[in-house]
Amino acid sequence: MTPLLSVENLSIRFRGDGPAVVDGISFTIGEGEVLGLVGESGSGKSVTSLAILRLLAPGSVVSGAIRFAGHDLLQLSENEMRARRGREIAMIFQEPMTALNPSMRIGDQIGEAVRVHHPEIPRGEVRERVIEALNDVAMPEPARRYSDYPHQFSGGQRQRIMIAMAVVNKPRLLIADEPTTALDVTVQAQILRLLRDLRERHGLSMLFISHDLAVTAQTADRVAVMRRGHILESNTVDAIFHHPQDAYTRALLAAVPTMTTDRSRPLATL
Ligand SMILES: Nc1ncnc2c1ncn2[C@@H]1O[C@H](COP(=O)(O)OP(=O)(O)OP(=O)(O)O)[C@@H](O)[C@H]1O
Ligand SMILES: [Mg+2]
Repeated sequence: MTPLLSVENLSIRFRGDGPAVVDGISFTIGEGEVLGLVGESGSGKSVTSLAILRLLAPGSVVSGAIRFAGHDLLQLSENEMRARRGREIAMIFQEPMTALNPSMRIGDQIGEAVRVHHPEIPRGEVRERVIEALNDVAMPEPARRYSDYPHQFSGGQRQRIMIAMAVVNKPRLLIADEPTTALDVTVQAQILRLLRDLRERHGLSMLFISHDLAVTAQTADRVAVMRRGHILESNTVDAIFHHPQDAYTRALLAAVPTMTTDRSRPLATL
């Protein structure tokens, strides 16, 4: 079966004569599949996701192909891209507070995401969709919280609002860039459970980006390990954990604490 997303030999430079910050990477995501993209800071994870959404700054040079549902996204016009961004491909960012408008009621913000793509839908129905999305992300009392402002929510609830905004248009692909890094461990576990739930209920495909292999293993079916703009290896979560091929993957694994980790020893580095 053709994958939903197929990234082929993708390279990214911020200037025509600059270094390739992403250097010829390839990966696929099938319908309903979750791919984890793991790697250290600066390895090129976020710029890869921004390239998929075509949100890189003007002047950056992107080559290769990004095939999504039968089209090479790199070849689409800006209008064709806008019709897909936020509708077929949605993104949740790491910092929910900076991505939400502090002076707008959260129901209206989520509703904006609907109206951008469906101006024809009457107000009452937009409201129904927003409440359904808030229900979907297990927000307590969604009809009452609709009229509250972002500062009236906890960090974990704000991340739920961001996820509601991303899924309200029922996208086919969700890109989650470090969706839990800013949260404490308990809330992180709740958000990961929520993402797994959404995937099961809606058959969502996902690109799950994290520097944390343990977190990724809880969410992804397959993992691609990235370093310095390259994908070193990609495999099922099980194979990555039990038969890592690359020395860097082994170092990442050695940094994952287990019940038997000797906490007095320093973490492995490369
Ligand atoms: N706008 C930009 N202009 C120039 N270089 C950039 C720009 N954005 C990112 N880079 C460079 O591209 C490389 C990859 O950055 P990227 O943000 O994708 O890393 P990352 O893997 O997401 O790291 P982190 O885990 O810290 O989020 C880095 O070397 C970074 O400095
Ligand atoms: Mg990043």
